[in-house]
Amino acid sequence: MSPVETNESPGARYRLWPIRRRVLVGLCAIGAVLMPIVGAFAYVGGFLSPDRLTQSRLVDGFQTVNGVHPGFRRNHAKGVCIAGRFESNGNGVALSKASVFETGTTPVIGRFAVAVGKPFIPDNETQVRSLALLFRLKNGEEWRTGLNDIPVFPARTPQDFYELLMAGAPDPATGKPDPARLQAFFAAHPESAAALALIRARPFATGFADASYNSLDAFRMVNAAGTSTPVRWSMAASDPFVPQTPIEGGSAGTNYLFDALIARIAQGPVQWRLMVTVGEAGDVTADATLPWPETRRRVDVGTLIIDHVEAEGPGNCRDVNFDPLVLPDGIEPSDDPLLSARSATYSTSFTRRAGEPKTPSEVQIPENVPAATPAKGS
Ligand code: HEM
Repeated sequence: MSPVETNESPGARYRLWPIRRRVLVGLCAIGAVLMPIVGAFAYVGGFLSPDRLTQSRLVDGFQTVNGVHPGFRRNHAKGVCIAGRFESNGNGVALSKASVFETGTTPVIGRFAVAVGKPFIPDNETQVRSLALLFRLKNGEEWRTGLNDIPVFPARTPQDFYELLMAGAPDPATGKPDPARLQAFFAAHPESAAALALIRARPFATGFADASYNSLDAFRMVNAAGTSTPVRWSMAASDPFVPQTPIEGGSAGTNYLFDALIARIAQGPVQWRLMVTVGEAGDVTADATLPWPETRRRVDVGTLIIDHVEAEGPGNCRDVNFDPLVLPDGIEPSDDPLLSARSATYSTSFTRRAGEPKTPSEVQIPENVPAATPAKGS
């Protein structure tokens, strides 16, 4: 008797055996095909090498530093939704065949935020402001881009960024970052120390509206003739620049940056010039810690006009992933290693927050501000 009792007659067993053998052989064959695939997924997921940097470890790093705030972005967590349009002047056509640069108007939605993973942090405790944009091109394509108000990024590679993030994690003994760990990071990474010096030296704007924002990462623009040009881009504020005066202990209000932005948009549209900086031979595209020479040509390709603001909510910018690799035909990634890491990490942050319960944003629009038209995202 076989170890498995059956009621089959010996004849039936005889007839079934080749079938069973074939099934067994088939299962082994499927297993042989599947194992490398399962292994590949486990490898990509980091299960086989817990020390390898993955998008999950990066997002876990943000959670270690900032705590877990369900439903919110793991970085740039405090923000507000905006909408408006981009009016292209046609100058960008020489650089890129993307239809957004043809003369005309493209609808835009976006988000202003402060660059930290704490959704209720007082504005005066933050250092970096951001502007994220989604252009809806008339041919159905999208261009998503995130910009920060700093001149360079403080890390050259995703691994360096992770190490910098963790060097700034609170020490369990004190609840504060250990300055010695940060010093050790910058001592080991002179390019990050040089970038930090540039970031600290930058003129610090009073608010969101008079700040200018930079892509930091390099991209490539490809025109109709197929010419590929290394570029970086910036949104240069049209509002006059007013330097920040020290804000002591949040005396101007927990949300003073956002309150000022909402009040400013209520007065009328706020504008930025989209400036494309054209790289030249020898300009490094794979290192966002390095500025390009000041003498590089800057092409004014049009005006961003923001005339609506609304609190984060279902279906608006809250539910958008401003993935920097969502690019129209005519804009391509460069060899900057941060770009693919950003894309993967934003996706993980988005997946986590999308599946979590939501809490209203700290930033709400006061009732006396004119209602904004919906800035629906996707
Ligand atoms: C390896 C480096 C970086 C990592 C790991 C990283 C990570 C993140 C994460 C997790 C988010 C939240 C995404 C979401 O849930 O939607 C975020 C937001 C953002 N990041 Fe990065 N980032 C990196 C580099 C950069 C760089 C170089 C820039 C250049 C400007 C940048 C600009 C932004 C902006 C503007 C946002 C806010 C987008 C929004 O308002 O939704 N990041 N980042």
